[in-house]
Amino acid sequence: MNGNLIFVTIFLLILPFMVNGNFRWSTCSINDVDADIINVSWGPDPVGAKGTILQANVSQTLTNPTTAIAVIIFSFNDVYGRIAGDTMHPLQPGITNIEGTYNVIVPDFIPNSFTFSAMIYDFELEVISNCVLFHRFR
Ligand SMILES: *[C@@H]1O[C@H](CO)[C@@H](O)[C@H](O)[C@H]1NC(C)=O
Ligand SMILES: *[C@@H]1O[C@H](CO)[C@@H](O)[C@H](O)[C@H]1NC(C)=O
Repeated sequence: MNGNLIFVTIFLLILPFMVNGNFRWSTCSINDVDADIINVSWGPDPVGAKGTILQANVSQTLTNPTTAIAVIIFSFNDVYGRIAGDTMHPLQPGITNIEGTYNVIVPDFIPNSFTFSAMIYDFELEVISNCVLFHRFR
C-alpha cells in the first residue's frame, strides 16, 4: 500500500474520544515507532506563530525507570516523520512518573500537514519508550 494511503487510513481510524487532552492523536506506529502512549495536553492548539511558546503538560507513568540520559522530545514533523523542529528537555534519572509542564518553541517552518509529537527517548538504551502524534493542518 502506498504511504499516503496508509496515512489517510490511519488518520480516519484515529480515536475520536480522548485519553490525551487534545484530540486527533495516534500512536507513533505510522512513523515506525512501537512505543507506549504518552499523555500530553498542550496549547495553544491550533499552534501559534513561529517563535512562540507552546506549553505541554505531561502526566505519564513509565514502565521502566529513566536512566541517566533520558529526555522528553517535542517535535513538529512532516507526514513522513521527518522533523522540522524540536525542543528537548532532560528527565531526572530513576523516575517512573512524569508530571510536568514543558515549554516548546514553535519552529520557523511547519509543513501544511504536520504532526506534533511528544516522545520519551533514552540515549543510553537507545529506546523510545513512550510516544504520541497529534495530527494537524496549518
Ligand atoms: C497546563 O497546566 C497548567 C497548570 O496546571 C494549567 O494552568 C494550564 O492551563 C495547562 N495547559 C494545558 C494546555 O493543558
Ligand atoms: C493525563 O494528564 C492530565 C493532566 O495533564 C491528567 O489530569 C490525567 O489524569 C492524565 N490521564 C492519564 C490517563 O494519566
